Amino acid sequence: MPTTQSATTRKTAAHRTTTSKSKNEAIKLLTADHAKVKKMFKEFEKLCKKNDEGGKEELAVQICRELTIHAQLEEEIFYPAAREAIDDDDLMNEAVVEHTAAKDLIAQIQSMDVSDPMYNATVTVLGEYVNHHIEEEQNVIFPKVQKAKMDLEEIGSQIAERKEILMEE
Ligand SMILES: [Fe+2]
Ligand SMILES: [Fe+2]
Repeated sequence: MPTTQSATTRKTAAHRTTTSKSKNEAIKLLTADHAKVKKMFKEFEKLCKKNDEGGKEELAVQICRELTIHAQLEEEIFYPAAREAIDDDDLMNEAVVEHTAAKDLIAQIQSMDVSDPMYNATVTVLGEYVNHHIEEEQNVIFPKVQKAKMDLEEIGSQIAERKEILMEE
């Protein structure tokens, strides 16, 4: 029967989409955050050249917020799961220290006035730290957790759920 057949086809297609979409969900979500923030740092650089003080401040506030939420998601959900899965404490400790350094710079930026002569430099150095940290995660930690067969689908839903709550705060 045509109706039954099309219903079955639809069901199969939907199932396939869901499966391929969520298998690597945690990596996808974190990588999307990384791409977003990298783009924001590039945009900040452009605003510096234009001496757009208002734009710079607005963007820096956004960068700090994005990074704070992202770090919290990793520290609460992704890192503990990764630590258990890959059994490489040195690597995970390094990532945590990098978060601490980034949070330090974020706090500095948040307490600074945009007219401060060190403002641009502080945001730029934060960008350099974050870029290095992102490389480390994407090139070392993510492949390791994938190889360790961590449940990236489940961790991904936890991250998505928590992010929604943190974004509302
Ligand atoms: Fe991180
Ligand atoms: Fe990250």
